[in-house]
Amino acid sequence: MGRTDEMVTEADRLEDTATEESTCMEAGEETLRPGEKPKPRAVDRTGEPLVSVRHVSYSVDDTPILEDISFDVYRGEIFGIMGMSGSGKTTLLRLLIGLERPTSGHVFFKGEDITVLDEDGLNRVRKAMGMCFQYSALFDSMTVRENVAFALRNRKDIPRSEIDKRVSELLETVEMAGTEDRMPADLSGGMKKRVSIARALMEQPELILYDEPSSGLDPVMACNITDLIKKVRDDTGSTVIVVSHDVPNLLGIADRVMMLHDRRVQVMGTPEELRESELPTVRRFVHGLGTGPMTEHCSPTR
Ligand SMILES: Nc1ncnc2c1ncn2[C@@H]1O[C@H](COP(=O)(O)OP(=O)(O)OP(=O)(O)O)[C@@H](O)[C@H]1O
Ligand SMILES: [Mg+2]
Repeated sequence: MGRTDEMVTEADRLEDTATEESTCMEAGEETLRPGEKPKPRAVDRTGEPLVSVRHVSYSVDDTPILEDISFDVYRGEIFGIMGMSGSGKTTLLRLLIGLERPTSGHVFFKGEDITVLDEDGLNRVRKAMGMCFQYSALFDSMTVRENVAFALRNRKDIPRSEIDKRVSELLETVEMAGTEDRMPADLSGGMKKRVSIARALMEQPELILYDEPSSGLDPVMACNITDLIKKVRDDTGSTVIVVSHDVPNLLGIADRVMMLHDRRVQVMGTPEELRESELPTVRRFVHGLGTGPMTEHCSPTR
């Protein structure tokens, strides 16, 4: 079973300084104006975590999906989650935003146990969260403007003009300026992803969760979306949890990464620690080898 032999403790984490990495750009290649210094960025892991997951297990009809998951995510951090298809990544994100309740264990957001909240309480907490779903999940019958403004659709206290202005600003941020009146059916997969990111940013969330933001995109667009996720974090100081199969890009932007395997946390560490991991399952995933321990369930002879 995938018990975490190599799990890096939070005490170890406190000694880390955040790595300044980029996937698509080489280090130091970020565009800076003359005289402008790169933004120093170090995640402070000494304070209260923004998200704390404690011994969370989740079963469906007595079938265990996740078992004894614990981790913390700190403010300003990009926290990556990877793992094989069906390892429970989307389920974990749904537990974090209260769309599912753990069978046991607790999820804390800003110190508040969200696993005990009713729907009103969850809606209050979710205002501080933005979620980009795995398949963009735009409303087909709504324009781009209506999709992006969806979270504020019932806010009578905010003038229409202000909402429209914010929508336009967000579309500019995701490099989709001028597409307000287009319908989702007219957009490519990458454009839809960008619109769904803009939608998730509408309420200026403290925490943004991305589920497979670059899946189904060509490598260039996947890289662009990955850079965009980092840019938004750098610009807004928000905290990011990103689930991705795109291991090189994920390791390029994440401050820490957790790998799920056999329903549990297999490993958690900095991208460098994961690259150097000796665990066969992690090596196969991180270095992209096709056969071996990851496939042991289907091919016991290997
Ligand atoms: N509501 C549910 N009812 C039954 N099974 C479920 C439910 N939710 C999740 N599962 C099961 O939980 C497991 C994890 O699913 P999940 O979608 O979280 O995986 P994933 O890691 O996100 O996979 P992928 O990489 O393919 O998106 C799967 O085996 C799935 O069939
Ligand atoms: Mg998924």
